[in-house]
Amino acid sequence: MYYPHDFKRVRGELYCEQVPVARIAEAVGTPVYIYSHKTLVDHLRKLQAAFRTLRPLICFSVKANGNLAILRLLVREGAGLDIVSGGELFKALRVGCPPSRIVFASVGKRPEEIRESLRAGIFCFNVESAPELDAVDRIARAMGRTARVALRVNPDVEAHTHRYITTGVAESKFGIDPRTAVELLRRAETFAGVRIVGLHLHIGSQITQAEPFVRAIRRVAEVLKAGRHAGAPLEWLNLGGGLGIIYKNERPQTPQQFAAAVLPLLRPLRARLILEPGRFIVGNAGILVTEVLYVKQARGKRFAVVDAGMNDLVRPALYGAYHEVIPAVQPARAASGLARYDVVGPVCESADVLARNRRLGPVKPGHLLAVLGAGAYGSVMASNYNGRLRPAEVLVRGRRFALIRRRETVRDLIRHDVMPRALLR
Ligand code: LLP
Repeated sequence: MYYPHDFKRVRGELYCEQVPVARIAEAVGTPVYIYSHKTLVDHLRKLQAAFRTLRPLICFSVKANGNLAILRLLVREGAGLDIVSGGELFKALRVGCPPSRIVFASVGKRPEEIRESLRAGIFCFNVESAPELDAVDRIARAMGRTARVALRVNPDVEAHTHRYITTGVAESKFGIDPRTAVELLRRAETFAGVRIVGLHLHIGSQITQAEPFVRAIRRVAEVLKAGRHAGAPLEWLNLGGGLGIIYKNERPQTPQQFAAAVLPLLRPLRARLILEPGRFIVGNAGILVTEVLYVKQARGKRFAVVDAGMNDLVRPALYGAYHEVIPAVQPARAASGLARYDVVGPVCESADVLARNRRLGPVKPGHLLAVLGAGAYGSVMASNYNGRLRPAEVLVRGRRFALIRRRETVRDLIRHDVMPRALLR
């Protein structure tokens, strides 16, 4: 494995670091997300090490996992944060992230979000369109401030990933085409409330090869040169996130291979580097543990009906994503009679399938299954669909573990609903 993580089987039992996963499930119930502190820190350090010569600012992408404990531990390890909303700004400040390490991307920043970010003194807005640049400029001037901005360039390169998570092709809503970006840079002086300090790229997610990044950097380098030629003080280059991980049998580039491919292009540009990894840091630092409720057979097919569904982990239903599913405790004679199961949740949707046609057996009610690689875009995308309670989350560090998000209760389900008497009489 390229990216070793700290979920390991010891004498048939799955451990997170030094804690048996089954013990956590017993203590806090299921479904539960479990994260390894060590894996999180290791992944961040690997990226820091690979790019050491450029001393990049590594801004963890909060959208991949917004749990406060996880954000705090990464910030303590020196990470900044990549945010996409006022909500994520609130979280970033709450965990004590220095504003000088916060970058804000999103195609739809609202005026209030721009104001709050300026007030907080964030490092940079990644601006995605000319009208947005106008808005940031107007708001900053009204507040008597100057906003640091990076223009997000859409380089029109194919990232060879799922079409829902490719973002750098011309027809996608993200970023500014190179020609418009150069025009804006030529007019940079006319935006009195804005200082365009860099360029930003993000071409997609779960990208396993360096080649799309290389092509994107070549394009953005042209914009950078043209912009500098026009007098724009472009010091920063933000390469976004997107580094792929292993879910099944992918062979993603390692951070070293990625750095080796892009550093030669970056050095001559003499720009400070920002990276916005999400999945690479947290993806396989987390698992989802679920209990088997029933085993059902129908027309020769076997279903393991579990207590986690698409509302807890939507990736399989939404993207057809593959997640490895393994028993948390291996039955004594595991090799014999490995039956195939569809692992399905309780939600009333045919798409509520966590895994199809997997050799697991023999599976019995009460068994615990672990869904691997669930740390990124797992808990953050959970919902209350079907009146289901969002799962608990636990962080493991060595021999210790602690709850980092309480399981929701039925009270949480109704917290924001109102039954206005006047309309319901
Ligand atoms: N920067 C920007 C501007 C982004 O839009 C994203 C992700 C990232 C950084 C972090 O990308 P990462 O390193 O995690 O690939 N829900 C989908 C993934 C959506 C990615 C959205 N943008 C999934 O579950 O696969």
